[in-house]
Amino acid sequence: MVKDSRVSGFYKLSREDRVKKLKEITGLGEDDLGPLVDPGQVDMGVLDHMIENVVGAMTLPLGIATNFLIDGKDYLIPMAIEEPSVVAAASNAARMARDHGGFSATDTGPNMISQIQVVDVPQPEAAKVKIMEKKDELLAFANEQDPILIRFGGGAKDIRVRIIDTKVGIMLITELIVDTRDAMGANAVNTMAEALAPRIEKITGGRVILRILSNLAEFRLVRVRAVFDKKELGGEEVVNDIIAAWAFAEADPYRCATHNKGIMNGIDAVIIATGNDFRAIEAGAHSYASVGGYSPLTTYEKTPEGHLAGSIEIPMAVGLVGGATKVHPVARVCVKILGVETATELGHVIASVGLAQNLAALRALASEGIQKGHMALHARNVAATAGARGEQVDIVAERLVKEKNVKVERAKEILEELK
Ligand code: MEV
Repeated sequence: MVKDSRVSGFYKLSREDRVKKLKEITGLGEDDLGPLVDPGQVDMGVLDHMIENVVGAMTLPLGIATNFLIDGKDYLIPMAIEEPSVVAAASNAARMARDHGGFSATDTGPNMISQIQVVDVPQPEAAKVKIMEKKDELLAFANEQDPILIRFGGGAKDIRVRIIDTKVGIMLITELIVDTRDAMGANAVNTMAEALAPRIEKITGGRVILRILSNLAEFRLVRVRAVFDKKELGGEEVVNDIIAAWAFAEADPYRCATHNKGIMNGIDAVIIATGNDFRAIEAGAHSYASVGGYSPLTTYEKTPEGHLAGSIEIPMAVGLVGGATKVHPVARVCVKILGVETATELGHVIASVGLAQNLAALRALASEGIQKGHMALHARNVAATAGARGEQVDIVAERLVKEKNVKVERAKEILEELK
C-alpha cells in the first residue's frame, strides 16, 4: 500500500531514479517490476497465446500519476498512453483536490446487463408477462451456469423485459442483470444468456437471435466527486471560466465530444495499463453520455467559498480476474502498484482519474490554453533526450521554449554552454 502519493518533482527525475522511487514507495522489487521497466522481460509466449497470428508486441510508454487521494487512500496510478501531457495533467489536478479531501467515490455495484433478442413472438405483451412469472426459475437456472460466481456472492439478480419496435418488426428483449463481482463479466453473462435462450424461446413462442452483454452498463456506475482549490486553479475567475467551459459542452455536442474525449484520455490510459477492455469502457461511456441527449460525463459548480466542485458519473465495467489483467505481466504489475483489492475499487480509481483529467484540460483551456503546457513538457523531453539530467532539464527546457527552438541539437548546444 502506498503511504503517500505526493511525490514532488517526480517528473524531474531520470527514468532510473523514478523507478527507484517507485520501488521505495510501493515496496515492490525487481521481480515484480521487471516486465514493466524492461519490456524485453515480457514473455512472448504469453502474448502469443492471447490473440491470433501474433508476430510481436506494440509497446506504449507507461507513466505514473502521483498525488491521488481517493476515499482516504493514497494511490500511484499507472497510465499507458501515447499522448504527452496526460499523466502530468492528471497528477496536477489530483494535487489540487488534496487539500479538500481528495476524491470521494460510490458505486451501484458491479452489475452487468445481458440481452436476449427474441423475434417472431406471436403475443409480445403476454410473452413479457410470462417471462416475469418465471423470473425466479430463470434466475436460478442462469445461476447454475456459474457456481464460482455464486460462491463469491455474485450471480444473476434480476430480469427485465422490453418490447421494442424495429425496422423489421416487434422484438422482445429479455435482459438479465448479473452481479459479476471482480470480473468484467462478459464471459459470465454471455454464458448465462446462451443457456437461457431455449427456455425463453419456449416461454415466448418466438425465435432467439442474439445473446450478448450490453456495454451500456447503466447498473455498473461509479460516481466520484472532488473539490478543487480556487487558489490552486488560478483564482475565482478561472473557476467561473471552467464552469462556462463545462456549460459549453453541456449545450453543444461538438464541444461535448471533445470534453468527454479528455475524460477518456485518463480513463483509457489506466484501463490499458491494467489490461482491461478499453473498447467496452469507451462504448459504455459514450452510450451512457447519450442517454437523454449527448451530455458531459462530468459536472461543475461553485462551492459557497468559491472553490470548484466537480463530479463524474460513468459506467465502469472493469475486472481484476480473468482476461489480460491476470495474464499480461505488465498489467499484473500495474494492479500491484495500484494496490486495489476489488474491481469496484479499481473503478473508483479510474473514474477519479477521469474527473482529474477533465478538470486539468478545462483549467488549461480556460486559462493559458493547452499548447503552452504541451510545449513545456515537450521541451523537457527534448532536454532529457539531449542528455540533460536533474536541474539541467528545467534550465535547458526553459531556454528552448524562450528561444522558440525546441530541438535536440539546440538542447545539446545549451548543455555544452552550461558545462
Ligand atoms: C486532448 O487530447 C484533450 C482535450 O481536447 C480535452 C478537452 O478539450 O477538454 C484537451
